[in-house]
Amino acid sequence: MALLLPKTNFVLAIFLLLLMLSTSKGSLDVHYYHQTCPQAENIIFETVRKASINDPKVPARILRMFFHDCFIRGCDASVLLDSTPGNQAEKDGPPNVSLASFYVIEDAKTKLEMACPGTVSCADIIAIAARDVVAMSRGPYWNVLKGRKDGRVSEASETVNLPAPTFNVTQLFQSFAQRGLGLKDLVALSGGHSLGFSHCSSFEARVHNFSSVHDVDPTMNTEFAERLKKKCPKPNRDRNAGEFLDSTASTFDNDYYLRLMAGEGLFGSDQALLTDYRTRWIVESFAKDQGLFFREFTASMVKLGNVGVLENGEVRLKCQAVN
Ligand SMILES: *[C@@H]1O[C@H](CO)[C@@H](O)[C@H](O)[C@H]1NC(C)=O
Ligand SMILES: *[C@@H]1O[C@H](CO)[C@@H](O)[C@H](O)[C@H]1NC(C)=O
Ligand SMILES: *[C@@H]1O[C@H](CO)[C@@H](O)[C@H](O)[C@H]1NC(C)=O
Repeated sequence: MALLLPKTNFVLAIFLLLLMLSTSKGSLDVHYYHQTCPQAENIIFETVRKASINDPKVPARILRMFFHDCFIRGCDASVLLDSTPGNQAEKDGPPNVSLASFYVIEDAKTKLEMACPGTVSCADIIAIAARDVVAMSRGPYWNVLKGRKDGRVSEASETVNLPAPTFNVTQLFQSFAQRGLGLKDLVALSGGHSLGFSHCSSFEARVHNFSSVHDVDPTMNTEFAERLKKKCPKPNRDRNAGEFLDSTASTFDNDYYLRLMAGEGLFGSDQALLTDYRTRWIVESFAKDQGLFFREFTASMVKLGNVGVLENGEVRLKCQAVN
């Protein structure tokens, strides 16, 4: 008995160690569909590629969709659920206009259900599609961890927890920290604004009657402010008016950070990254070195993809409704 005890303890210790590792690391895996749906990523890539050729707004929208999904209830595809009688879903919550590419994910899902029924979660489709739109736009490529399950809850009221375009670094930092993301992730993921367009409503307050002492946000370049005033006159009659988020809005690159250095960040929450000493040095390093930005963006996207992952949920058969 006395001889057996150390061995039993040893086995127990190994068992506990394995248990700890398996619970702390989660079950996401690059090869998750290797046996069950090896063609999954090709199907998603082809669907996203064709949709992006048809509508150049698709890449920015899908990238934003991934961010939105992971920030609200974790990466569980809650952003894709339709409202039901008695429940208004996230997609009908306030800042939803820039998302309107749900059909692309649904289209990929339909094809995946034919190829490998009931296997690939909608949450994984968004994560893979987000990587694909970045790579397609000449940005970096990375391996997406997979194995997320889909949630069953989506509440429009929760979209207030998305970081607002008016946030300063303190508010942004708090919002990111609640999801286990740090300052570096904040600056790197803000680089997602390398793709896309914004309507006037998200930034016009910076160029009209900004404060009691400044008509225009003093952190904004004055020529840039004049351009924005012309694009978004007050009162604004064109509902579609707006501006691209950086000067190369269909190429994923570090131009976003160069714009910040020039005082040409579109949102207050963009320009604040340069104004605040806590994030300024990170902006400067990404503006100088696109390779560094790509590496850090990739690492932060993987981290974002781990936020609130469900391991016990369902694989939806249609992305817009629970099973
Ligand atoms: C945004 O929400 C409104 C209602 O709140 C809805 O009518 C509209 O279809 C939604 N837009 C998208 C793209 O889902
Ligand atoms: C950020 O905004 C909050 C809320 O408006 C304010 O209380 C805080 O002082 C601001 N912080 C900085 C660093 O500007
Ligand atoms: C500017 O804002 C102030 C309050 O901050 C308001 O009293 C004033 O009417 C506004 N002016 C214009 C032109 O909108």
